[in-house]
Amino acid sequence: MSREQDQAFIKTFVGVIIFLVVLTIFLIVVASMTVGDEDQDYAELIEERTAQRLEPVGQVRVSGEPMPEIAQAAPQEPAEPRSGQEVTQAVCAACHANDFQNAPQIGDEQAWAERADKGLATLVDHSVNGFGNMPAQSGSASEDEIRKAVIHMAEESGVQLGE
Ligand code: HEC
Repeated sequence: MSREQDQAFIKTFVGVIIFLVVLTIFLIVVASMTVGDEDQDYAELIEERTAQRLEPVGQVRVSGEPMPEIAQAAPQEPAEPRSGQEVTQAVCAACHANDFQNAPQIGDEQAWAERADKGLATLVDHSVNGFGNMPAQSGSASEDEIRKAVIHMAEESGVQLGE
């Protein structure tokens, strides 16, 4: 290789090195500017997450009191039995006021009169355990509530169901 070629190579080489150094500094400056804005939030987030992860997995309660979350949680079932009307609205109306398959509709006197012939006990039993196209209702209401709902729906349809 000639001297000129050597010099040309060194020039290019030094040029490239200088370019890379400048580029590196530029990127460092840009990167620190971008991160800088969120630094505070990010640091807080990291602190919060770290604290969460360091929390003990379980806690032993020795005082005998229930955990506040459990003590305050709303009971699943209302303590008082619901009225026939309440159960009808909450559970039965979905089908008995919405033309679901062949469900006797509230207000349809003829449909309820036909069913009433079976007697209240049978109708309640069918509602609790399921009958034909109606799934068992025992998961949604107590037997007592279901009995009141049957009487309520029949009454609303002008049919009296005796005990
Ligand atoms: C998922 C829909 C659905 C729900 C919810 C539902 N029913 Fe029904 N019910 C039906 C259908 C459908 C029939 C007709 C069943 C048949 O004859 O095949 C029926 C029939 C009945 C009958 C007549 C049973 C018989 O022996 O002829 C009674 C009584 C009754 N339902 C009461 C209730 C009560 C009370 C509730 C609420 C606690 C309720 N149903 C909720 C769909 C429903």
